[in-house]
Amino acid sequence: MTKIYGHRGSMGTFPENSLIGFLNAVEDGVDGLELDVHLTKDGEVVVIHDESIDRTTDGSGLIKDLTMEEISQFSTGSRFSHLASFTNEWRAEKVPTLQEVLELLEPYDTELNIELKTYIEPYVGLEERVNDIIANYGNGRKIVYSSFHLPTLVNMKRINPQANIAWLLNHPVSRPDDYLEAFELESLHVSCKVAFQQAKKWKEILPLLRVWTVNESNDIKQLLDLRVGAIITDYPEKAIFYRNERRS
Ligand code: G3P
Ligand code: MG
Repeated sequence: MTKIYGHRGSMGTFPENSLIGFLNAVEDGVDGLELDVHLTKDGEVVVIHDESIDRTTDGSGLIKDLTMEEISQFSTGSRFSHLASFTNEWRAEKVPTLQEVLELLEPYDTELNIELKTYIEPYVGLEERVNDIIANYGNGRKIVYSSFHLPTLVNMKRINPQANIAWLLNHPVSRPDDYLEAFELESLHVSCKVAFQQAKKWKEILPLLRVWTVNESNDIKQLLDLRVGAIITDYPEKAIFYRNERRS
């Protein structure tokens, strides 16, 4: 059965990478959540997409140059007033730490895909910090680490040989099996375009693909037909609806 993962929580409807977005996605019944992490100046693992806080908060600056306390002064929810479900309550939403997300998820067995955003900033020590946080707050849930930067995943596997690692691809590679084997990848996380381009050639490994970011109804339905491992979507509620439709 294809799993449904909420991309940056439920970013089509709620502020991306926010506690309110994660909570709504789990309450909608997602199998998993995708989120992005960076390292602050004082070594905190923070859940945010970009290298700077400019686009998604009312502050500015690079995460690597800011402490967690400085980042905490800004609102993330207030930047998403264009979304139809916006309420003033969102203004209180701050950029969460990874630990805060895990504490929020404690009552749920939701899988978690942690995307390590190391392809621009090196964030030395990020993998160790994330591994420690998961050891303390992971609560036994399935964790999948993904990155566009393959050496980061190799490092994560060195730190924790049990870690599930997934290479993020927005271009096709030849002989994907070789990568899966050589790097002990649990899966490949591929763009929607790559998934459709390679669907025939990669028939045998379709269950090992998590496909992002799948928002169009027709794409969701086709990928459900292809029985890919998971669909990562900004609209998890819609994807869950289509999947349930097939079951009834
Ligand atoms: O993990 C899938 C997807 O999130 C990768 O791209 O830029 O949305 O983090 P991005
Ligand atoms: Mg991501």
